Amino acid sequence: MFRIAHLSDPHIGPLPRPRWRDLLGKRATGYLNWRRGRSRAHDMDALAALVADMREHRPDHVAMTGDICNIGLPAEYPLAAQWLATLGPPKEVSVAPGNHDAYMRSSLPHMMRDFGPWTSGDDGEQGFPFLRRREGVAIIGLSSGVPTLPFVAAGKLGSEQLARLAAMLRATRDDMRVLLIHHPPVDGGGDIRNLRDHRALAQIVREQGAELVLHGHSHSISRKCLGGPRGPIPVLGICSASSIGRNPRRRAAYYLIDIDPSARKMMLAVRQLDKAGQFHQVAAAAAACVG
Ligand SMILES: [Fe+2]
Ligand SMILES: [Fe+2]
Repeated sequence: MFRIAHLSDPHIGPLPRPRWRDLLGKRATGYLNWRRGRSRAHDMDALAALVADMREHRPDHVAMTGDICNIGLPAEYPLAAQWLATLGPPKEVSVAPGNHDAYMRSSLPHMMRDFGPWTSGDDGEQGFPFLRRREGVAIIGLSSGVPTLPFVAAGKLGSEQLARLAAMLRATRDDMRVLLIHHPPVDGGGDIRNLRDHRALAQIVREQGAELVLHGHSHSISRKCLGGPRGPIPVLGICSASSIGRNPRRRAAYYLIDIDPSARKMMLAVRQLDKAGQFHQVAAAAAACVG
């Protein structure tokens, strides 16, 4: 049995104090957003409690689907790397960056450098998609985070990444293939928060197959499906790992997914923050498609 813990969207704070010249363009609105609401919605004590609970459950691998940062300030990336190091050794932690990690074009070199140990494949190459094979499980990390205009949180994979993904899925078809992507890879209408090339991704998955897709971005628990050659493929979304607030269903949560590669079966459990600040199991089921 191979156990994956999936968490997402920690939006780590507090934000390092930006310099005036860092607040050009999109970052100015992002910074105001953070000061007005996000800084209170994301609680670092809740995040620390989640990580402690997760480590008690001894995952073999941690899947982190992005939005570690907030407005892509250069000073955010070393803090993000420090936090990633608390999840486990980099070979056991894989990151799919989000739109807040790839916030501006000038953020990308910082992201690539500081996230490097968590975004490189078994071949040592850094880039996307990357592939890590563990005990019959193929973990494939994608990057859908792209710099966008203000108020647009859309994502994109691009044709080059999609072509490499198709080849990777083909080469690992006897493994249990788990895709990590920040944006939900399903059709959500014309929303400006969507993955722009979700149709191209769905086509590749339909042809080459995959066994599980894990995503973030929506800050909520969701279970959807993509069509595959061997039947529907579960697509799981999860709450922000640091979220507190009145709506108990959107509070910090993570998945524990137990994969049995020889039986080609998966079981999943959701653990979520309660009012007392403790994590407890709120659901458990076979990882199958719903709806
Ligand atoms: Fe997010
Ligand atoms: Fe996001």
